[in-house]
Amino acid sequence: MSTILDPRPAAQSPPLVPGALPLLGHGVSLVRRRLEFLRQARAYGPIVELRIGPTAAYLVNEHTLLRQMLVQDAARFPRGIHFQKARAVAGNGIITASGPEHRRQRRLVLPAFNRKRVEVYAQVMREIAVQRIEGWPQDRPMELKPEFVGLATRVGTKALFSAELATPAVATVERALPVLTRRVSLRAMDPTGLLERLPTPGNRRFATMMDELHGMIDGIIGTYRATERDRDDLLSMLMAARDDETGRAMTDRQLRDEIISILLSSAETTALTLSWACHELGRHPSVQRRLQDEVDAVLGGRAPEHHELGALDLTRRIIKETLRLYPPTYFLSRTAVEEAELGGYRIPKGTTMLYSFFSQHRDPRLFPRPDHFDPDRWLPNRSADVTPDAYLPFGEGAHRCVGEGFAYAEAMTVLALIAGRWQLRPVPGERVRPVGTVTLVPADLRMTVRRRTR
Ligand code: HEM
Repeated sequence: MSTILDPRPAAQSPPLVPGALPLLGHGVSLVRRRLEFLRQARAYGPIVELRIGPTAAYLVNEHTLLRQMLVQDAARFPRGIHFQKARAVAGNGIITASGPEHRRQRRLVLPAFNRKRVEVYAQVMREIAVQRIEGWPQDRPMELKPEFVGLATRVGTKALFSAELATPAVATVERALPVLTRRVSLRAMDPTGLLERLPTPGNRRFATMMDELHGMIDGIIGTYRATERDRDDLLSMLMAARDDETGRAMTDRQLRDEIISILLSSAETTALTLSWACHELGRHPSVQRRLQDEVDAVLGGRAPEHHELGALDLTRRIIKETLRLYPPTYFLSRTAVEEAELGGYRIPKGTTMLYSFFSQHRDPRLFPRPDHFDPDRWLPNRSADVTPDAYLPFGEGAHRCVGEGFAYAEAMTVLALIAGRWQLRPVPGERVRPVGTVTLVPADLRMTVRRRTR
């Protein structure tokens, strides 16, 4: 409480977004029209209160406050419910750990993602992309998201495990990932934890899939330990990593958790980026033509090598703009572990703090004409059309994505290959729209492709 000796105004509670229903709160809006609701909620202040059922949560709208929460004040706001629920899948891997333990694991994992390593994985990306994209069916409507999820799962698995072990592993991972992702998202919506304890067919399928995945990964780790040869892949890097302070390597259990963390974080996000990029190219034939010109000029019909990606300037900007409009991990959370103050508001201990890159990236004050797909807004002479500090598709702070270089290399390689081979076309009459589930998915995205004649 303020006294006459304390000149600071008392920290207040953030305003409640209108429209909360008794018991349900904003639940109906969050389920039925989440994306629109998150955009509208920005009008009510830099931090606003939402009700999820009867529980209050705060939504951080102002990008400078979001940075403060994720960077300067990160220790007070560790990860929230989504990540707790991922523990059933990723154990105590980098995507679920927090505090000093997380920092230690992150130090061990980071070297596996440096530029030189991404160059090695880029060979895998190139080979797999060529195999899959060459064989696309011409002029037949194709569902893009499953196609790219398949591609990215294969890339992730083959980057992790060397060739001879990867083939059976790919089949297991391809079967497991959709089951695991779905379970984690369902459980994230059930704070009571009741759902996960019921003997439902879904929970049984989940348990069987986890056993199969663990068996496969443990088998591969065992083979690596038995032969002790560097296989030039991600798992070899993780096994070679030593803690700076203790000199210790990761245990088998920790390796398994990190492998699952990487698989969970990489395939869906990259696949969504590619799906949305193709969708926008179908809607913007002039951008697609310019992309084809760039790819033809730099690559002359070849698949790109990693060192050639630097010359594909428009390709890079197309991915960057796609991630502005459709950030795959568009809605995340943190939890206040102690009472705090943010932007003059009092944040009680235990409050769930929500934030949305989707609504932030589409705020007209930060990105003029925000709904318009315009890769050229990222040209150096258009700096008035972007707010770099508010552009956060890979997050910020202690948990910032470690796979950004990997994701760009994969998305650019695949997009350049597509542009070199195929003309992308929307299916007439089909209305594609973003739907906010755990990730930002394109509902009803089908496209046709026709082989280009150069
Ligand atoms: C376009 C594709 C991708 C996007 C948009 C993306 C986005 C993100 C975001 C927003 C976070 C931070 C989450 C938070 O703050 O709580 C994150 C973390 C992470 N990402 Fe990515 N990601 C992508 C691709 C990848 C890839 C390809 C990999 C690995 C091969 C990867 C591995 C990770 C890992 C391990 C973390 C956890 C980092 C930590 O907690 O220290 N991501 N990602």
